Amino acid sequence: MAAEPSHRFCVAPMLDVTDRHYRHLLRLLSRHAFLYSEMITAAALARGDAARLLRQSPASGAVALQLGGAEPAALAAAAALAAEHGYREVNLNVGCPSSRVQGGRFGACLMAEPARVAECVAAMQAATALPVTVKTRLGIDALDSDAHLQGFIAAIAAAGCRLVIVHARKAWLQGLSPRQNREIPPLQYERVYRLQAQFPQLAIVINGGIADLDAAEALLAQPPALAGAMLGRAVQRDPYLLAGVDRRCYGEMAPPPSRLAVARHYLPYVEAERSAGTPMSVLMAPLLNLFQGQPGARRFRRHLSERGHRPGAGPQTLTEALAHLAPA
Ligand SMILES: Cc1cc2nc3c(=O)[nH]c(=O)nc-3n(C[C@H](O)[C@H](O)[C@H](O)COP(=O)(O)O)c2cc1C
Repeated sequence: MAAEPSHRFCVAPMLDVTDRHYRHLLRLLSRHAFLYSEMITAAALARGDAARLLRQSPASGAVALQLGGAEPAALAAAAALAAEHGYREVNLNVGCPSSRVQGGRFGACLMAEPARVAECVAAMQAATALPVTVKTRLGIDALDSDAHLQGFIAAIAAAGCRLVIVHARKAWLQGLSPRQNREIPPLQYERVYRLQAQFPQLAIVINGGIADLDAAEALLAQPPALAGAMLGRAVQRDPYLLAGVDRRCYGEMAPPPSRLAVARHYLPYVEAERSAGTPMSVLMAPLLNLFQGQPGARRFRRHLSERGHRPGAGPQTLTEALAHLAPA
């Protein structure tokens, strides 16, 4: 079993969510969780502006850069940039079913082309010393058998991929929106365990519909042992769930930080980013759900959403918003 303790708890790549600011906030909540960037296409990096697209906050820790693309040379060029920007892994997106991504013939539709994905992985791996991993689905459309999935995984494993993240449902390439494709095809966790049994040398991370840390722990306690669990929307809804990760998944003893302490630690980052010209609303987006379920959370959120856009909004806007919360 190729267990990867580092991946025991992963935060899913989420477009327009897991940007560098969001990752900075998550890192204040957990030192160990493995974070994934939102998908960045190899084409966007090739057009220039890589420095802006790949920028990370200085203390970002373990973060994978997720790439979108289907051309080995372009993906290799993109992968080659990851290490110098502080990323620890390069991940290829073979799970996104959006029509825009299908238009570029990458994302989930690549499940129909195992040889091409293997070529991409090999080219990326040749271009970087970082591990190259793949995030995929169980299948697409009629290509939804265990045999097809096994063939796909065998091809990428032979190309050098040692860790695979499996979103435990298939995708329909026509007729469902990306959102529906995260909800309508049923979850089939048992197929992920079958895959782990078939590929004991691979580290497999399970993803899809995991509601909280209890659910993640329960999935990781079942044989055969998986390398980790990846959560997306549960973190988006309630980022504070990350505060329990270091203790429960990585054996740390330190007590988790309070929500308020985390928001206060985020303040110097806001100051630095505002001075560099980052819009306040962009910096506040990661905080909107931090106090989810706490007294005053709605007023806190409203304050930030309404005033974060105003000219002159700055760190004091956050300090004022924090005053809406009941004292701990
Ligand atoms: C807003 C949003 C954006 C997403 N963007 C990406 C992405 O850029 N790359 C990717 O591989 N998956 C993306 N996903 C899918 C998630 O990574 C994850 O596979 C999916 O949400 C299932 O996990 P969950 O049930 O824990 O949310 C996105 C999901 C959401 C909700």
